[in-house]
Amino acid sequence: MIRKAVIPAAGYGTRLLLLTKSLPKEMLPIVDRPVIQYVVEEAAAAGIQDVLIIISRGKRAIEEHFDRHPELEALLTTKGRTAELESLHRLSSMARIHFDWQQTLRGLGDAVAYARDHVGREPFAVLLGDTVVRSTVPATLQLTNMHKLHGGAMVALEEVPSDKVSRYGVIRGLSADGRLYRIDGLQEKPPPEAAPSNLAVAGRYVLTPDIFDVLERTTPGRNDEIQLTDALNELAETGRLKGVRIDGRRYDIGSRLDWLQANIDLALERPDVGPGLRGYLTTLLGPGDATDA
Ligand code: G1P
Repeated sequence: MIRKAVIPAAGYGTRLLLLTKSLPKEMLPIVDRPVIQYVVEEAAAAGIQDVLIIISRGKRAIEEHFDRHPELEALLTTKGRTAELESLHRLSSMARIHFDWQQTLRGLGDAVAYARDHVGREPFAVLLGDTVVRSTVPATLQLTNMHKLHGGAMVALEEVPSDKVSRYGVIRGLSADGRLYRIDGLQEKPPPEAAPSNLAVAGRYVLTPDIFDVLERTTPGRNDEIQLTDALNELAETGRLKGVRIDGRRYDIGSRLDWLQANIDLALERPDVGPGLRGYLTTLLGPGDATDA
């Protein structure tokens, strides 16, 4: 059983500047909550009660979001604002949240390595803090369910158009059984002509503690950073890594278009703002286009 999750949330978010100069990209709003809250909710929905968020300088807003705020709670109680009070209580009881600070931004692999002592000798989930997945069964639960059946380290996979492979880690592998893949190798952000497939690593992982030894000897790769993908490649080459094609829609919040689409798609599903937004989009675009949105 997977009891712990690690959420790397230390990166600068340079693709979203100037928006992210003082606001962590993980704190960008999607409808009524910051991105990072969706990510923690997804971990909690997979039964994970212990979450370690790896942050860095300038990410204090993430800590404050998950911290209790007794004065605000007292004020809401006095004013009888029960709905807001309940949402604050839900937020603080979702999971036990811990923080650690990546000292220098040396890459995703380095960020995950910070979790070694916290995680100990058990398998754990990794959820990228800038990735939200909209799905019927939460993406992390899809992975942990598969882990329960087959064991071992696993990465979530998503098919992407070939002009997008250069943004992601891409696997070389074969479908083993339905959504389950055997992975023989991985490449971080390959050019389309060199990509081994169009199956991209989708920001969710179940890792086994042997990854920490591998990360320790992983040398800087692409962008001169310690790449998690390079460490995973070592597992793959020795037959220790599987992939799970996730059923759902992934939003990479580091991309402006994905962030805007996440807001529209998730708002359309909400009973409070959905009908109003749908009406507005229909007026703006005409009935056919609004339905597609
Ligand atoms: C990271 C990983 C990459 C993965 C991607 C998913 O890249 O290194 O393998 O496919 O997340 O979003 P980043 O987006 O941090 O550049």
